[in-house]
Amino acid sequence: MQLCNVRRRTKAKFIGRRSSLAQAHPSVCTPELAVGYLYNRRSMQLAPTTEQLLEIHGRIRACVACRLHETRTQAVPGYGPVEARIMAVGEAPGEKEDQQGRPFVGAAGKLLTELVESIGLTRRDLYITNTVRCRPPGNRDPEPDEVSACSHFLDEQIALLRPDVILILGRHALLRLLPESAGISRLHGERVVRDDRVYVPLYHPAAALYNGSLRETLFADMQRVRAYLDEAESLRAARRATAGERESADQLSLFAL
Ligand code: URA
Repeated sequence: MQLCNVRRRTKAKFIGRRSSLAQAHPSVCTPELAVGYLYNRRSMQLAPTTEQLLEIHGRIRACVACRLHETRTQAVPGYGPVEARIMAVGEAPGEKEDQQGRPFVGAAGKLLTELVESIGLTRRDLYITNTVRCRPPGNRDPEPDEVSACSHFLDEQIALLRPDVILILGRHALLRLLPESAGISRLHGERVVRDDRVYVPLYHPAAALYNGSLRETLFADMQRVRAYLDEAESLRAARRATAGERESADQLSLFAL
């Protein structure tokens, strides 16, 4: 059988699977499935974790645990590939996010894109979410009980993605993820390791929109993020090499039996 026929059939199988997933999760929007498709195109299959992420997104969209659901147009669960090595956590959806159902699509989002691109990555390398998933009316700060009602979703997303680095965007996200820590002006750009997870607090991109010196600080901090990511990658490569050596040693000992 010709290779292109095999590819066509596998792709058709994948598309069938994608539509049955969409039926199983009616609240899941197709762009996310498209992201899943892009990132799994080699195997032409959705990774099991993509399904799990979509399942969490479905529950967030249906969530009525706090008063914010009463005024939302739609919830904004998060966006990005499940394989992302870098996760960003902002404060709350604004007006545009509430309309489009995706995080960081306004002016602050544009700056976030520039920041990510400044270290040679794209938005597709990033999974983005917020401390609360529904827009607070008039863009007010989220209340503590609203953050707490949304909290388990963030824990689930972090546990599922296990990113190399979690970018904490601004003081609300800092309070949620590192409640005991110093403020953002002390910690920005630092690597903070808690429970085997690596966090990097950063100024919120919205705060840097009209402040040239904060903007410069943000770009400088991103260079440090690049170094943290490189270190995580080297560590992974070293672990892979050790595992490979162990495997070949096991095989040698099998031969010796
Ligand atoms: N858009 C978001 O999704 N979150 C923010 O914190 C700001 C803008």
